[in-house]
Amino acid sequence: MRTAVLGATGLVGRTMLALLETRNWVDEPPLLLTSARSAGTSLTFRGRAVDCADAASAGLAGVEMALFSAGGAASRAYAPRFVQAGSWVVDNSSAWRMDPEVPLVVPEINAAALPARPGIVANPNCSTIQVAAAVAPLQRAFGLKACHVTTLQAASGGGGRARQALAVELSACLPGLREGHASPAMTGTGAFPRRLALNALPEIGAALPDGSFEEEAKVVRELRKILGLPQLAVTCLATRVPVWNGHAAAVRCVCGRSAPRDEVIAALSAAPGLVVAESPHGYATQLEADGADPVFVGRVRGQEGRPEVVLMWVVADNVRKGAALNAVQIADLLASRGRGA
Ligand SMILES: NC(=O)c1ccc[n+]([C@@H]2O[C@H](COP(=O)([O-])OP(=O)(O)OC[C@H]3O[C@@H](n4cnc5c(N)ncnc54)[C@H](OP(=O)(O)O)[C@@H]3O)[C@@H](O)[C@H]2O)c1
Repeated sequence: MRTAVLGATGLVGRTMLALLETRNWVDEPPLLLTSARSAGTSLTFRGRAVDCADAASAGLAGVEMALFSAGGAASRAYAPRFVQAGSWVVDNSSAWRMDPEVPLVVPEINAAALPARPGIVANPNCSTIQVAAAVAPLQRAFGLKACHVTTLQAASGGGGRARQALAVELSACLPGLREGHASPAMTGTGAFPRRLALNALPEIGAALPDGSFEEEAKVVRELRKILGLPQLAVTCLATRVPVWNGHAAAVRCVCGRSAPRDEVIAALSAAPGLVVAESPHGYATQLEADGADPVFVGRVRGQEGRPEVVLMWVVADNVRKGAALNAVQIADLLASRGRGA
């Protein structure tokens, strides 16, 4: 099947390319697309050099599966063209996620929403994917009334330049650290709303009139859509932390009925794509999740006097399961349908 990757030079695009190398339904190098800035950049696919082309002028003939990770503006501009040319578009940006005509898919939860014919499929926000993956088994086993989320998100969630900016900020802080202070004079690179190095920022995305920031609104809206619970009570506080790669989320679920801990562990352990720490003191961190495929669930506990409440610590690689891997898993399913499997 002929594939294309839009945003091929980005953190997510490069990871998509590496994942596509492992898929047997991909029989030739993907068409690699970027902005005019990176056109001509050479990447490798199964050991072969492949040059990137400017998405604005590239021909789309024969492309059947396009994976997009180039931001909302590029997705809005290019997705309709690809669909018109007969290709599926699996889009990582927020451009189409809340469009009622576009399915928002985490394959382990709602693969049934995938369309039968070529169209746009939206990949959820990175934090939403990992939280949904951990919450959906509880919804199935106990029902779900409310979900409260606090995220701790890595610099890589902002893309390659943001991750590099964290490296620059941390390096600039080193002399101060050697002298025994946290470099208060170092103000940041401007890549984040304030300095991220040795700090934590409760701000991701644009400020919204209701007092939230955009990332928080994405988690609220998208979780409801993926779980098929439009009235679900959801709150989110999203923070950026000075972590290289990997998002963590502290999650508090209010279930529809009593959720005994052994039943919670059984429900989570049976769910595909999750690695569950059985001890209430067990957990993974972002370091262990970096480069790994599963969503790690730990610190699973109840709340005294509230048998329907479940507390969890949920960690995943935001560039893999939070973006590239989830998109390629969607493409796997679409490709198998396209081939009548
Ligand atoms: N990083 C994450 O954890 C994560 C998670 C979920 C979703 N996402 C989403 O995935 C997308 C990419 O994220 P990223 O982290 O990979 O960002 P990134 O490292 O900044 O890469 C952005 C990519 O998009 C390309 N691009 C930008 N504007 C373009 C345009 N007008 N036309 C064609 N290509 C264009 C860039 O090409 P040039 O090299 O030419 O600039 C580059 O290849 C974003 O929509 C982001 O919100 C990211």
